[in-house]
Amino acid sequence: PTPAGTPGTGTAFTAVAPNKEDALTIPEGYDQQVVIRWGDPIFADAPAFDFDKQTAAAQLKQFGYNNDFAALMPIEGQANSYLLVVNHEYTTGPMMFRGYNKDAPTDEQIAITKAAHGMAVVEVKGEAGSGKLTPVFGKYNRRITADSEFLLTGPAAGSAFTVTGADPSGKKVLGTFANCAGGVTPWGTVLSGEENFNGYFANGDKASDPQGRVKRYGFPKGGTPNQWERTDKRFDLSQEPNEANRFGYVVEVNPWDASSTPIKHSAMGRLKHEGASIYVTGAGDVVSYTGDDEKFDYMYKFVSSRKMQSGTGASAMRHNLTILDAGTLYVAKLTGDHAAEIDGSGKVPTGGFTGKGQWIPLLETGDDGKGKSLVDGMSAAEVAVFTRLAADKVGATKMDRPEDFEANPFTGKVYVALTNNDNRAKDDKPGVDEANPRKLNKNGQVLELTDNHTGTDFTWSLLLVCGDPAAADTYFAGFDKTEVSPISCPDNLAFDPYGNLWISTDGNALKTNDGLFSVILDGPNRGETKQFLTVPKGAETCGPIVTESHVIVSVQHPGESDDATPDNPQSHWPDGGTSQPRPAVAVVWKKNGGRIGV
Ligand code: FEO
Ligand code: CA
Ligand code: CA
Ligand code: CA
Repeated sequence: PTPAGTPGTGTAFTAVAPNKEDALTIPEGYDQQVVIRWGDPIFADAPAFDFDKQTAAAQLKQFGYNNDFAALMPIEGQANSYLLVVNHEYTTGPMMFRGYNKDAPTDEQIAITKAAHGMAVVEVKGEAGSGKLTPVFGKYNRRITADSEFLLTGPAAGSAFTVTGADPSGKKVLGTFANCAGGVTPWGTVLSGEENFNGYFANGDKASDPQGRVKRYGFPKGGTPNQWERTDKRFDLSQEPNEANRFGYVVEVNPWDASSTPIKHSAMGRLKHEGASIYVTGAGDVVSYTGDDEKFDYMYKFVSSRKMQSGTGASAMRHNLTILDAGTLYVAKLTGDHAAEIDGSGKVPTGGFTGKGQWIPLLETGDDGKGKSLVDGMSAAEVAVFTRLAADKVGATKMDRPEDFEANPFTGKVYVALTNNDNRAKDDKPGVDEANPRKLNKNGQVLELTDNHTGTDFTWSLLLVCGDPAAADTYFAGFDKTEVSPISCPDNLAFDPYGNLWISTDGNALKTNDGLFSVILDGPNRGETKQFLTVPKGAETCGPIVTESHVIVSVQHPGESDDATPDNPQSHWPDGGTSQPRPAVAVVWKKNGGRIGV
């Protein structure tokens, strides 16, 4: 076999052409299958899915809605068996229920949408000679919902900002939702980012707002789309102002113990975490990178002061689950090497878009769990809970929606998807800079950081400036633009076993469907970008996993559009015919069991 860390190997497939099909389109010579879809039972006593008779009791035992991040973790000692761990980011009532009244969903519909959020752990079994993965009712299977119990740790826990009427301890939080991307830790747990949590809390306009905290996190006026506030007052900021301060964290789940209480790590800050990915240095230091997905928001990293204990025993796991509770949280400030040449057109400076950066420390959390604020005028608990305000004060760089981060396991370089920002340099909005070089940026870019991981300095360059390769304002690391696939709105990132970067997209501004792309990072073909698959109409490509033998994608929100309803479905994927669209996880493999892209 080809040694791992050989970029280029693993991308030998015929690129799929951009299209608008209502299908998962894959390269010639590959096969595909839906692994699991919304409503599929994950427990032996779960009812079969019935679109017209869905209940909350059924949904609690079935796969949730709008699968996003996906992790595939081999089960030790059981050949070809894995845990599939998935985020269920959000729900869309008008597509889930016939005759849905968005002004007055029924109590049962509200309970169903709460149960359809969160996460799922599902055991899946492979099959000799193919890439098929089949869910089984294994002992690890688990649903985590908007009502499951979590432990809040770090400087926010038990603070004046996190105690509520129902929880005077300020540590026992119910639920996770808006979970976007995530990461797998080397100690065998899964991280999940609570992203657009603000949209679940009603009456932001009626809450008191000292220092503009409510405004900075963008809580909506009046009611929310899901109306959970109607059956559960904790979702009403005018009644329970602190409840929202208990969301917006990096969540950690130990999928190997279905009864374990998942953790929310406030030492890593509260923001719209797209996800969190881990890099362990040669010296064993653990670093986690995370982005705040909002136009003009920031990039963060957390450097733990704790090292991983090896082994899979209970005592190692107990220790390792505290790694993200002690350390320093930083935010990034970037400068460009060619600032004078950046005019908003996307014209590439001589030598490419390059620069330097600094990690500015915000919060140091000690072994006792107590925090020390490194920001003038803010307490540690304030920095942990109102992290965006802390980062504003230190002059961090306002980015074009920082989404997923991923460190190359072979080179240690860190990649960031900056998905788009159509407000860049619009009217009185912040202008362009070298890392965010285009006005009204519709197509996004991918940033490459050369970080020393535990330190405070880095250098950076833009790997890709996305869009139609025929357009002058795109850049593929200097690679021949007539030889690449068009790519727009990079969102989630993953590495294959050879060190190639894979990028999934969300919101393709080139008027074709979203998809998954490979990018070669090193050698003469650096920048070569090829489309491996496209997802059905209206869908977003999430959670990519690329192993030697499987490509797994979360197909999120197939058929989503403003006027989509069960009587007017915009997609019939995955079941075809006249069926309702169902978000699903799909697997693609090379026919006859060959290696992906080889
Ligand atoms: Fe859930 Fe940042 O996309
Ligand atoms: Ca996104
Ligand atoms: Ca990722
Ligand atoms: Ca996404």
